[in-house]
Amino acid sequence: MTAVRIEGLTKDFLTGFWRPTPKRALDGLSLEIPAGGVFGLLGPNGAGKSTTLKLLLGLLRPTSGRIDLLGRPPGDTAVHQRLGFLPENPTFYDHLTAEELLTYFAGLFGLTGEARRQRAAAVLDRVGLEADRRRPLRGYSKGMIQRVGLAQALVNDPELVILDEPMSGLDPIGRRDVRAMIADLGRDGRTVLFSSHILSDAEELCDEVAVLARGRLVLHGRVADLTSRDVTGWHVVVSGGEADHYRAWAPGTTVQPLAGGRYALDLPADLRPETLVTALPSMGAALESVSPRRASLEDVFVRAVGEPVTPAGTAR
Ligand SMILES: Nc1ncnc2c1ncn2[C@@H]1O[C@H](COP(=O)(O)OP(=O)(O)OP(=O)(O)O)[C@@H](O)[C@H]1O
Ligand SMILES: [Mg+2]
Repeated sequence: MTAVRIEGLTKDFLTGFWRPTPKRALDGLSLEIPAGGVFGLLGPNGAGKSTTLKLLLGLLRPTSGRIDLLGRPPGDTAVHQRLGFLPENPTFYDHLTAEELLTYFAGLFGLTGEARRQRAAAVLDRVGLEADRRRPLRGYSKGMIQRVGLAQALVNDPELVILDEPMSGLDPIGRRDVRAMIADLGRDGRTVLFSSHILSDAEELCDEVAVLARGRLVLHGRVADLTSRDVTGWHVVVSGGEADHYRAWAPGTTVQPLAGGRYALDLPADLRPETLVTALPSMGAALESVSPRRASLEDVFVRAVGEPVTPAGTAR
């Protein structure tokens, strides 16, 4: 089942006041997002992530191309009943409490009386705000506002949840909590589409990712297929010895001095770390740690964004 189908989507913005000229923000994007699970839309600043999400929501009209969202066109009001959206950096009227705001949103989706109150309580509970629900939003931290935004996106029990940079501006604990909530939504059988440039979050959360750069799709696939589980080398930390000795000992090894007379050595894949470890005492050094290096989503991303590649069958 496909939740979102995008075909040849292009968006030009007219920029400049006196002589408006079109600027291409999105260039022929074609993408299918499967129903159920977490899909990451990645890319550096200005890549076209928010533009894509706004086109999906019907907030922008495409210059050309087609969008099919849960089997319907994006402007369709019936689709909006089945959709949740968290905008980038949400702000709310801050004299309301979280409970008042969510009760109001629940009312917009046709709930009344006790059902409406219960839905507001359930989503606030789900995002961990039950204890603060009677406090006005003006006293909330950024992380708490982000949770209110998530609660708002979930108030209509949506099948498809679209989140624009849900982890941005949060501290590590806030990021971890939001990550856990997104993973939960995917396990519930909902489709979550979120944009991010924080690759470790995407690597942990997503079944599939698409990478945009300068408005074009440069990479698309399952995270497990994109990142290599093969060892591409060894990362060794030693204390003592001298950088020149390490360089002379194994050409091809990069040596990075660390604080406290320690060195980080990156050995090529064909050099076993044991040979270095046994040689350390003769160099007046001791082993601190050895870890395998694997291609991460970050390596794949940097390669893809640096030089656009279009894998067969995924991009036009
Ligand atoms: N309303 C607009 N008018 C003119 N240009 C726009 C408009 N919205 C976006 N753009 C341009 O389109 C390009 C893509 O912007 P978009 O906001 O989609 O990027 P993004 O991937 O979401 O970036 P970020 O990570 O910074 O949020 C940028 O060059 C941006 O300046
Ligand atoms: Mg954006």
